[in-house]
Amino acid sequence: MLRLLVCVSGGGTNLQAILDAIDSGKITNAAVETVISNNAGAYALERARARRIETLCISPKDYASRSDFEAALCGAAEKRNPDLIVLAGFLVKVPERMIRAFEGRIINIHPSLIPAFCGVGYYGLKVHEAALARGVKITGATVHYVDAGMDTGPILLQKAVEVKPGDTPQILQRRVMEEAEWQILPQAIDGIANGRL
Ligand code: GAR
Repeated sequence: MLRLLVCVSGGGTNLQAILDAIDSGKITNAAVETVISNNAGAYALERARARRIETLCISPKDYASRSDFEAALCGAAEKRNPDLIVLAGFLVKVPERMIRAFEGRIINIHPSLIPAFCGVGYYGLKVHEAALARGVKITGATVHYVDAGMDTGPILLQKAVEVKPGDTPQILQRRVMEEAEWQILPQAIDGIANGRL
């Protein structure tokens, strides 16, 4: 059984997709044991609490320095020692200590076809704003392993999504979530849990 720690910052629709995929059997041999948010107001925490999953809020606001915050985050992860850490809309740069401690055991979902529209400053809606500004006709999502860089780790899965005339960043974000993110993130977890990835 692959024990998962899921890190979130916002709405948690990707967390929900993971929980639903476990319920429906699309993900087997895996369980979400803990959800950590850097944001106390994240609706993702409600989704986890509704399932009686352990939740933790570790917010930079509650620590005197960035290094104290990072130590708390790493300490919480190391204490639980999950088999896999899933960044599901986690808008915090993962501390080096955590990357070293969990080398090859952290994956991230990014809402574009990496290497397009990724790296520093590209997160959430900004990714879709940039894709529309550039006028691409195809975008999508990527699941990748996390290394010390920003969106630079080895790619596990990608799925393309069409950009349609009249798309706003919000409309495109929703289509990328529905058609790509909520599919390939559960697929990646199932693949890892069952030794295929
Ligand atoms: C998702 O679109 C995810 O791909 C993105 O944040 C959103 C979180 O939504 N992540 C990044 O941009 C990471 N660079 P959610 O909270 O509803 O899952």
